[in-house]
Amino acid sequence: MSILVTGSAGFIGYHLTKKLLKNNFKVYGIDNLNSYYDVNLKKDRIRDLKNINKKKFFFYKIDIENFKKLEKVFKKNRIKFVINLAAQAGVRYSLSNPEKYISTNLVGFFNILQLCKNYKVKHLIYASTSSVYGDIHKLPLKENFSAVHPLQLYAATKRSNELLAHSYSNLFNLPTTGLRFFTVYGPWGRPDMALFKFTNSIIQNKKIDIFNFGKHSRDFTYIDDIVEGIYRIFTKIPKRKNKLIKYDPSESNAPFAIYNIGNSNRVDLMSYIREIEKNLKKKSKKNFMRLQPGDIKNTLSSTKKLYKAVSYKSSTNYKVGIKNFINWYLDYYGKKFK
Ligand SMILES: NC(=O)c1ccc[n+]([C@@H]2O[C@H](COP(=O)([O-])OP(=O)(O)OC[C@H]3O[C@@H](n4cnc5c(N)ncnc54)[C@H](O)[C@@H]3O)[C@@H](O)[C@H]2O)c1
Repeated sequence: MSILVTGSAGFIGYHLTKKLLKNNFKVYGIDNLNSYYDVNLKKDRIRDLKNINKKKFFFYKIDIENFKKLEKVFKKNRIKFVINLAAQAGVRYSLSNPEKYISTNLVGFFNILQLCKNYKVKHLIYASTSSVYGDIHKLPLKENFSAVHPLQLYAATKRSNELLAHSYSNLFNLPTTGLRFFTVYGPWGRPDMALFKFTNSIIQNKKIDIFNFGKHSRDFTYIDDIVEGIYRIFTKIPKRKNKLIKYDPSESNAPFAIYNIGNSNRVDLMSYIREIEKNLKKKSKKNFMRLQPGDIKNTLSSTKKLYKAVSYKSSTNYKVGIKNFINWYLDYYGKKFK
């Protein structure tokens, strides 16, 4: 079975591709290797994937905004399953660089939808985010909440993806599943995210910026749990329902679904930082700052819907996840800078 994974040089794309290759799938990976963060990290991820199985992993350096090049991949390889992870991620970056969010997350995503429709793809899975919920105070966050008050452009583009996907599911019977990931972390993680930034700064004796005076809490979700969730959803293809069901924002008669993937546990930011310090055996120098525009104070997922669909629940404790990340970080950067 041929699977297309976009954003395969990214954090989640890399781990998912690894799992697919280990389970003997043929994977076509697409990534434009942009310089939003260290390109070498992306290249190393691709190198690692090629080492796992050269015969089953095919990488294309392509921008999903380029319809023609993207179409060639669909045509040549008879793609039937697509997992779209390529996106301009990051909440804060969207305040200063809005254009990229429109071109990749909207135009690029539209290209994916068009090609999935034209090549009769059997299931399109795409990344959404917990940010679509905005700052709803009613926790845990459930898929049937309306999610119509995004706090920044990143969230607005991701919520738009869900709406665009619904229209294609409805009009063209394209089965689509949107996955709202909750703060993903782990080895090979993203340098723009808290765990990576804090670890890096503590090691270099630099101050760490702690927004909202440390009063944030997050539903941190370990990368292996996210990958397992995507992997299981992959064969859970939404079907058109003939009977009129009760509509909610995440379900309709169209072959369309939305699920949260989170750990369903809230960890406050200061506990998270203490765990990093414990693993590094070093205290951080803290720079407390006020809440940043567009930041969400607290997240917590309800994952009952996912459990009902695929009998799976994320379970990795953040202390285990942080330990694994720091072991990877010290090994990866230790080797590199020796
Ligand atoms: N990591 C998280 O906590 C998190 C949370 C919620 C949602 N998400 C979503 O999950 C997906 C994967 O996130 P990630 O953490 O792996 O981010 P990432 O930035 O590591 O991965 C995204 C990859 O997409 C590639 N890319 C970006 N624009 C592209 C384009 N126009 N054409 C081709 N490739 C392009 C990048 O080079 C990158 O390698 C994203 O859609 C992100 O919005 C992530």
